[in-house]
Amino acid sequence: MYKQLQQRDRSDAPVNVARLGAMKAAGEPIACLTAYDASLALLVDQAGVDLVLVGDSLGMVIQGHGTTVPVTVDHIIYHSEIVARGLRRAFLVADMPFMSYTSPDQALVNAVRLMQEGGAMMVKLEGGAGQVRIVEHLARHDIPVCAHLGLRPQSVHKIGGFRVQGRAPDQAERMLADAVALEGAGADLLLLECVPNEVGRAVRDAVSVPVIGIGAGPDVDGQILVLYDILGITQGRMPRFVRDFMQGTGSVREACEHYVTAVKDRSYPAPEHCFS
Ligand code: KIV
Repeated sequence: MYKQLQQRDRSDAPVNVARLGAMKAAGEPIACLTAYDASLALLVDQAGVDLVLVGDSLGMVIQGHGTTVPVTVDHIIYHSEIVARGLRRAFLVADMPFMSYTSPDQALVNAVRLMQEGGAMMVKLEGGAGQVRIVEHLARHDIPVCAHLGLRPQSVHKIGGFRVQGRAPDQAERMLADAVALEGAGADLLLLECVPNEVGRAVRDAVSVPVIGIGAGPDVDGQILVLYDILGITQGRMPRFVRDFMQGTGSVREACEHYVTAVKDRSYPAPEHCFS
């Protein structure tokens, strides 16, 4: 019975929470990407990506909205279910969308749906100290959780735009305290978006769970980018941390492989992708 979960049709074992922790301990960078459909999920998996996120960024890159706010639990479940069919080795994380975790009970109901209907192995939610109770409740029910700190796109209307977070010392201190509190509440993974390098480094050192960065500098335990951004599909002004990996390559598969190599050998992110 367990063989199915361990092997599927690949000889290398699927990535799990323990493996992600071991990668942090060994100093091996964790390569992560978003995906939204089975075909690209398979390519990303074959390219050697360790973790795939069905992000609520799908509201922007798939649905064409200006923010992630319109995304619903049903949307995430639909995409997670089809991405799960494409994966063989990578660990699948699904986003809890806007207003789907306003109370511990609502969060539990929606997280269970993402896992049972969407095939997710972990759920990701945005928040700091205000989400500690939610994370505790999910962790008590053995739901693996990733907590998203720094720039939180679901709060874009409150923050007043997509901008770098944690530049002011008091903001950085709060983020650090939030990271420690969320780990204490049972978070298995942290995602840190759009913060100066030194904040990324400080958070990495403050917690024992892996810290995945997007615009959080080179010193965190892994990197994640939106798949359509690295394939040069997304139009318009790109955030500083994005690199188009299609340039100089002949195929989507090759671009994804270059991304994985660049994360693993730490040539991505380069200084031009970072914030100070
Ligand atoms: O929704 C998403 O794709 C994300 C990214 C920041 C990784 O959360």
